[in-house]
Amino acid sequence: MEMMEERKALAEKKLEEYGQSHVLRYYDTLTQEEQEKLLSQIEQMDLSVTKYVHHRDELPGRGVITPLKAMEIPEIQEKEDEYRAIGLKEIREGKVAAVLLAGGMGTRLGSDHPKCMYDIGVTHPVFIMQRLIENMMDVVREAGTFFPFFIMTSDKNHDTTVAFMKEHDYFGYDPDKVFFFRQDMAPATDYDGKIYMESRCQMASSPNGNGGWFSSMNKAGLLDKLHELGVEWLNCFAVDNVLQRIADPVFVGATIAENCVSGAKVVRKAAPDEKVGAMCLEDGRPSIVEYYEMTPELLNAKDANGNPAYNFGVILNYLFREDQLEEIMDDKLMLHIVEKKIPYMDANGNFIKPETPNGFKFEQLILDMVHEMESCLPYEVERSCEFAPIKNKTGVDSVESARKLCVKNGIQL
Ligand code: UTP
Repeated sequence: MEMMEERKALAEKKLEEYGQSHVLRYYDTLTQEEQEKLLSQIEQMDLSVTKYVHHRDELPGRGVITPLKAMEIPEIQEKEDEYRAIGLKEIREGKVAAVLLAGGMGTRLGSDHPKCMYDIGVTHPVFIMQRLIENMMDVVREAGTFFPFFIMTSDKNHDTTVAFMKEHDYFGYDPDKVFFFRQDMAPATDYDGKIYMESRCQMASSPNGNGGWFSSMNKAGLLDKLHELGVEWLNCFAVDNVLQRIADPVFVGATIAENCVSGAKVVRKAAPDEKVGAMCLEDGRPSIVEYYEMTPELLNAKDANGNPAYNFGVILNYLFREDQLEEIMDDKLMLHIVEKKIPYMDANGNFIKPETPNGFKFEQLILDMVHEMESCLPYEVERSCEFAPIKNKTGVDSVESARKLCVKNGIQL
């Protein structure tokens, strides 16, 4: 009991520091189990992000954007054998691991289950996770060895994802090479920066964006595992691109041969104003300029061959050198404060699911990690062969469009 009192006092202090004392409003009416749940949530969550709501205009702006040359397909083809040999050697020596970022909410797809469990099959079940693992198995067969496979989940989908993988025998992957970890959660607030309550014993929260993956890996104690396994490169990828190549030996080899500490798979933009982030330099360091940040000047800029200078969009498939990630781990990544619809409990105890945005969520993004790297190789891939993202049910970047692309690539659905 004394222990609970102490924890409560510490929680009160932490909440007061960030103007969130209302979170304990119902504390005395809760059962001991509920009190315990709320205190743990307060202890674990970084509440400092809420203070930025009132300082949104002061968040650092962008630096000077200049072009960063991509390695284009013809150049890759010319040296493919050399790069492949380098990459395969690294994979065989256990130096390359894959990291699946599967902590997102997948709200646009609107499924009740985690996105990796979504079935895109037509004549038989083909789950998104299965598709990704089938792609990984191509490399496993070529290299003659399984490589470590880390899967980031969130509190919202962890148990279901783990159970799903077990139920399906890891879709043929070696279970000893699969490691799950949970990403951190961030509070969700109203427009005044006050944390919403989801219930009397729970703050409204959501996964803190895909940029926190390495520090979450560290928190989960997996850095020791990386060292023990001798992993030197981490290939991070999104859950939703069902055609992407993972631990692609040629990509790994090219990044190493070019002496880069990171690499990003990119596709040629369909149009200069296409809605994808483009690789660039920002104040001389690798970075990604978002489509809505493109000024007319950037849109019209040309490279030495007369092609658009910001012509290559990122597809959320990055390669990072592990020692560099450790170096930047304690640096604070930029905070993105995003307006969202946040379900909450109102003052009368009713659970409200808003139809329009009613506050903020706080996210860090993996693309800001690229800017922390000294160098990055933008590596061009053929869009129709490696880019089939599933964000929506129908229309652009949807189950429908991804199915068509899978069929085009000879994948039976
Ligand atoms: P998206 O930006 O598409 O977000 O994530 P989402 O949550 O999956 O989907 P919407 O926006 O709610 O519809 C890109 C990748 O980053 C991962 C996702 O799982 C996906 O692989 N991600 C996103 C995380 O791992 N954690 C997060 O907090 C957010």
